[in-house]
Amino acid sequence: MFKRITGTRDILPQEAGRWQEIEAIARRVFSLYRYQEIRPPLIEEALLFNRSLGQSSEIVQKQMFLIKREKEVYALRPEATASVVRAYIENNLDKTSAFQKFYYIGPMFRAERPQKGRLRQFHHIGCEAIGSFAADLDAEIICLADNLLRAFGISGYKIKINNLGCPKDKTALVQALRSQLKGKLKGLCAECHTRFKNNPLRILDCKNQRCQEVVAKLDIHNAYLCPECVEHFDQVKEGLDALKVDYEISPNLVRGLDYYTRTVFEITHPELGGQDAIGAGGRYDNLVAELGGSQAGAVGFAFGVERLLLVTSCKSQAVSRNLIYIISLGEEAKQQSLKLLDNLRKNGIAADTDYENKSLKGALRKADDLGSRFVVIIGEDELRKNTVTLKDMVSGEQRETMIENLINELTTK
Ligand code: HAM
Repeated sequence: MFKRITGTRDILPQEAGRWQEIEAIARRVFSLYRYQEIRPPLIEEALLFNRSLGQSSEIVQKQMFLIKREKEVYALRPEATASVVRAYIENNLDKTSAFQKFYYIGPMFRAERPQKGRLRQFHHIGCEAIGSFAADLDAEIICLADNLLRAFGISGYKIKINNLGCPKDKTALVQALRSQLKGKLKGLCAECHTRFKNNPLRILDCKNQRCQEVVAKLDIHNAYLCPECVEHFDQVKEGLDALKVDYEISPNLVRGLDYYTRTVFEITHPELGGQDAIGAGGRYDNLVAELGGSQAGAVGFAFGVERLLLVTSCKSQAVSRNLIYIISLGEEAKQQSLKLLDNLRKNGIAADTDYENKSLKGALRKADDLGSRFVVIIGEDELRKNTVTLKDMVSGEQRETMIENLINELTTK
């Protein structure tokens, strides 16, 4: 028997409704902010991610699903920001309007060690606003993330923000970290030893307690930020205050992707345990130029849908009863019920029938299990009189009605 690949999941019909609900809410809220959907391919040249996420990032180092074909190396996308930027440049979207807002919903792939909330195929609901350096946009996008979470019915999360500065500031911080950490390597975990060589910034947000103790003693905060980047962040905070977004400054938040500059943020939820980020994002003012486009400021974020669902799972879902279930008794009635089913559906009414030859009692139970609003029963008697028996599954009442009036009655209910 075949089994699904570790770290992937089947989203079964009983769960798919919640996915559709969350996706529909996201689409509605994004459209309020004038974000438009973009659907880049799931597979890209691997080099696109090496270039944008950074050769030393954990994703490029360890987590890419690579596919080699002749001389080409492709990757299943580990995230969508790089793809959206590639699409923006390749399709000359900046020529129509230099500032554009995009959103996307879809699967991402990372070869991580699977655990609760960490999968190898997972899904993002994300957005990217490309073509502006304005600090107000950072505030608006963090506020959008906050509003989306409220619309999903999620509460109890924390929004953490930080300022990474421009590339020059980041380089200065990396140098400072290298010199300050040089004599303290013994106190760091094995992974941070590698980070020290490849990506010292990531030592700042290592979850290992010993590393955190070392980091707490460093003298680095804000010292390497240029005045323009300090001012930008001040404006972001003012914007967030004006919008009444609840946030906290997290000076060690650095994010694992190289493209970030200035504002970065992460939204965590205590119910998630170890993998506590439900979403994250930030500004990436050099990525468009690095990938061959113009010098265009940009900011975005992505939520992990599986994690969103983990923190909404405890909320009860109201069962919507909107199905009409037809039960026919006898061969002739079956013909009539097929026509009626077709007619109901053509009139936009969800309808189904019994395909398992159940008894009347069994079919009624099935109708109830499916959440039917009404059951329509057609037997010999009804056929003769051109009527149907209509059973209200909420009140339990039952009455006869002329078949030609049925659709009218159901649509005016
Ligand atoms: P990221 O932090 O790598 O950012 O991913 C965003 C969110 O995706 C995480 O906060 C988490 O909820 C979810 N996630 C990440 N990895 C997994 C996994 N293995 N299993 C389940 N969920 C996961 C980005 O990808 C950026 N592209 C976000 C962004 C957009 N920045 C700017 N624009």
